[in-house]
Amino acid sequence: FGDPSRRPRVYVDGCFDMMHSGHFNAVRQAKLLADEVGGTLVVGVHSDAEILANKGPPVMNDTERLAVVAAVKWVDELLFDTPYSATLPFLDSIDADFCVHGDDISINADGTDAYAEAKAAGRIKIVKRTEGVSTTDIVGRLLLLTRSPHPLAAASDAAAYVGANISSSGVSQFLPTTWRLRQFSSGRTPTAAERVVYIDGEFDILHIGHVQALFEARRRGDFLFVGVHDDKTASKRGPHHPIMSLHERALSLLSLSCVDDVILGAPPRISADLLRTMNISTVVRSPDDPAGEPVPERYGKAVELGLLHELHDTHPISLDAIVRRIIDNRSRF
Ligand code: CTP
Repeated sequence: FGDPSRRPRVYVDGCFDMMHSGHFNAVRQAKLLADEVGGTLVVGVHSDAEILANKGPPVMNDTERLAVVAAVKWVDELLFDTPYSATLPFLDSIDADFCVHGDDISINADGTDAYAEAKAAGRIKIVKRTEGVSTTDIVGRLLLLTRSPHPLAAASDAAAYVGANISSSGVSQFLPTTWRLRQFSSGRTPTAAERVVYIDGEFDILHIGHVQALFEARRRGDFLFVGVHDDKTASKRGPHHPIMSLHERALSLLSLSCVDDVILGAPPRISADLLRTMNISTVVRSPDDPAGEPVPERYGKAVELGLLHELHDTHPISLDAIVRRIIDNRSRF
């Protein structure tokens, strides 16, 4: 960091497929390291082709993965189609001082360590991988949706199917602490003058459709509260729902630049009390939200008070479509 006029550049990369709290936490920690040196955080997203060549087909495509990473509040600069291996010539080409990676080993298609050069040159900082969350585990839980209604039978089926070591209950192993919530929180409350917008739902497996709806909602005011339904409410959607626990879903939402705060375990029916105590001036409804109460009960109060705004052009991706892709990928590769 010899030149005082130059801002250091810190690089973190990934596939960021079905982005989960572990990925968000890696980006958050990389941003902290960038802040420590007064630097910029540059985030690299690998292309579908690069992921296919090195670890197998991603579930989400280039556009879908980029949309989620671009929405993350800790990203200063975004690069697309970065190499799976962060070699020294590559780090030099983007003027990065060092890169950041979780404490697992990423193996290239030829079996070599993707960060070997950076390690040898002392240009890597390792952050602790977030315990209890991985794409393999999420895929296992998603596959439970297609299987036997008996949870134990379904779990072993899915584990055999993906070779995943998933828990027999299929339940998330993620351990939320209040410290983790605090690390992700914006720490901001709305001022009296700010127009507060509210949107609620499950937000299970945060995807491009959610991100677009959330940015649309945020554009309608100055402060966005997201009401996250608890696991019991989300479980009404069917066996093995939700895939992500309430706290995992909340952490993902808190990672987005458009979300100011979340309500953990928001009521399935938007009450007059909620609208008043949170000073909500606009309620946004996404028409393809499949969850929850019937529309008249869920949004009745907001309609009565003239606060409801409907979104029209929402992205067609859904949890069912994601599961179909996983099965399709498994049969093709
Ligand atoms: N990461 C993490 N904690 C996790 C999962 C991922 O810190 N539970 C980190 C990885 O170490 C990497 C970054 O997130 O620095 C991006 O990871 P990515 O390449 O997208 O995937 P994987 O490391 O394979 O993670 P997963 O197995 O969950 O897909």
